[in-house]
Amino acid sequence: MSQPNHPVIAIDGTAASGKSTFARSLAQSLGYVYVNTGAMYRGVTWYLQQREIDLGDLITVSREIEGAAIESRLENGELVFQIDGLNPLPHVREDKINAGVSLAAQVPAVRKLLVAQQQDLARLAPVVMEGRDIGTVVFPQTPYKFFLDADADIRAQRRTQQGEKDVIEKRDKLDQQRQHSPLTCAPDALRLDSGRHTVEELVAMALQHLASQGMKY
Ligand code: DC
Repeated sequence: MSQPNHPVIAIDGTAASGKSTFARSLAQSLGYVYVNTGAMYRGVTWYLQQREIDLGDLITVSREIEGAAIESRLENGELVFQIDGLNPLPHVREDKINAGVSLAAQVPAVRKLLVAQQQDLARLAPVVMEGRDIGTVVFPQTPYKFFLDADADIRAQRRTQQGEKDVIEKRDKLDQQRQHSPLTCAPDALRLDSGRHTVEELVAMALQHLASQGMKY
């Protein structure tokens, strides 16, 4: 893969660790585009669930995904994600998707397609991209990497406050133990504990780190 011309900031971390709030806020501070790759895996899961596909059936999932028109683009500085012309993003926080997404995300055909689209998005604009494998697989070459985590109790509480039922420990386990692109902290990522800091503090720490890595902003 050739390098995008724009800087890429990679943010990975555990479920409900506050990645989205942190990533969105950092993107806003820098004037970068925020890209939530979890929403793409969730969108694919929604599509498969709509079609009543067994998410554990690798062959059928692969066939469905290869036959679908999946499109990612940026519009007005935001990710637009469509499958067969439909926008799954309004549905992706449903409890059913929390329960199924880590299964769909294990399927190599799903990862291959979404990783390629994520790499293409970063050619269009400077991005802050959050997910599970951004610093390790999607953009291993970027010098700008963060890994967010917090105590499991704090993360579970966060989801409850958001009014969601989420199987965060189960998802983490599946995401960490899967064969392809497992969730892991890149050796060159800065680890941040979102249970100990406010979003403003995390962004300030991130900006300081980016400056120390040579980023001019
Ligand atoms: O960030 P999130 O909780 O919305 O992500 C939902 C799931 O999608 C996560 O449990 C695993 C999968 N995912 C992934 O495998 N790789 C990514 N880059 C982003 C998300």
